[in-house]
Amino acid sequence: MIKTIDEAVAFVRSKTSIQPQVGVILGSGLGNVVDALEIETAIPYSDIPGAKASTVAGHQGRMILARVNQTPVVVMQGRIHFYEGHEMNEVMFLSRVIGRLGIKQLIVTNAAGGVNTAYKAGDLMLISDHINFMGNNPLRGPNIDELGVRFPDMSEAYPESLREVAKQVARELGQLLQEGVYLALSGPTYETPAEIRAFRTLGADAVGMSTIPEVIAMSQMQIPVLGISCITNMAAGILKQKLTHQEVMDTTARVQAEFTALVLGCLQRFAG
Ligand code: HPA
Repeated sequence: MIKTIDEAVAFVRSKTSIQPQVGVILGSGLGNVVDALEIETAIPYSDIPGAKASTVAGHQGRMILARVNQTPVVVMQGRIHFYEGHEMNEVMFLSRVIGRLGIKQLIVTNAAGGVNTAYKAGDLMLISDHINFMGNNPLRGPNIDELGVRFPDMSEAYPESLREVAKQVARELGQLLQEGVYLALSGPTYETPAEIRAFRTLGADAVGMSTIPEVIAMSQMQIPVLGISCITNMAAGILKQKLTHQEVMDTTARVQAEFTALVLGCLQRFAG
């Protein structure tokens, strides 16, 4: 497995002179951040040996090597999801590749449903911690010792020091930034109202179908993560309306400029 990961790393290195210091994973409908970058190289996932292509609407499926000011960054425009039917090692694969490319921090983003009733659609939420309800731990199976230990610590997967940077950026931009716990399920159904009530009791503020596998991969590699959820809709049963992917896409389109400014501001701070 480490051989497959390192073959992909070698392939990416053969296509670019950029040695990325910071990584970004862009979730559903949030890919426009790349328009603000000086792109050097864009590699479709389908070209990367060992990688799977993303099949979801709103996910472009490209690895982009770029600079923000002077800082070299790698951006995954679109991600691979567990609900698409991939195995967890395939879901984590590109995160591990960008980890081995040498990133020092990862910014991970997603679209999520608001479980906390004080939230509203269009809010941005810093992820302070997560609850893994995907029914699977992505590190199950033989440990890849080259990546890290068998039993990784998860107590500071989203370090406060990175969240403080994001809060400062949001303050400077005059943005409201929520902070809360992200709970992930495998999907692809949205949740039932009873599930959402249960998750609220358990301490979840937002719910989604991604991100946790990538964050677990980073924890094993000891790469700190900043997580940002775009609350695209209120979770099931909160409002008297059905949940649709269209609403998710409409909300991400509406908050695109605000979201992009926050991500770029954080990237610049991490870089500097
Ligand atoms: N539930 C799960 N995943 C989601 C949601 C939701 O309400 N909104 C966006 N992704």
